[in-house]
Amino acid sequence: MRLLPVPVLALVLAVGSQEQELLPRESHSLNWSKFSGFWYILAIASDARGLLPGRDKRKLGASVVKVHTTGQLKVVLAFNGARGCQAHSLMLRKDRKKAVFRNTLKGVRGFRVLSTDYHEGVVDMRLGRAGQTAKMLLLFSRQSTSSFLSMKKFMDICETLKLTNRVAVLPKDASCAHTVLP
Ligand SMILES: *[C@@H]1O[C@H](CO)[C@@H](O)[C@H](O)[C@H]1NC(C)=O
Repeated sequence: MRLLPVPVLALVLAVGSQEQELLPRESHSLNWSKFSGFWYILAIASDARGLLPGRDKRKLGASVVKVHTTGQLKVVLAFNGARGCQAHSLMLRKDRKKAVFRNTLKGVRGFRVLSTDYHEGVVDMRLGRAGQTAKMLLLFSRQSTSSFLSMKKFMDICETLKLTNRVAVLPKDASCAHTVLP
């Protein structure tokens, strides 16, 4: 194997890490107890076709986040989709070094909070198994309506992740979301 000349290697590394650098990094100082509880999901963006609900199926989603034991997070996600309102419960484990939770057996390669003030937040989920991965970005809010600023932040992050054309803003119908109210 021939080693790449140093300037080329530096360029490759710079491009590879660009997405990470552009993303907000609030999750490093996140207080997970404070982030816990019930959230409405007001918008979803994904590069996987099957993850975006069809136009006639769109309703608010919901998530319930709970710190299980140190380093473990229980996350319930409810979405309305082709098969109606469905809730999934996941137990995620924290990475030893990074501020990311995962459960690779369940196909969750990463669950991280990119930005939050604990009233609203943007959550980045990476899904899939070896070779096949998908991005899923979620706009969380304690209330069933979004603020202009939180929607703008969500759209900005969609742009960074190249998901701008893959966004579903969910209409205000809480009938599915409320099935997972604690
Ligand atoms: C985290 O949030 C919880 C619940 O709001 C609070 O009781 C605790 O003091 C916070 N911890 C830190 C380190 O700020």
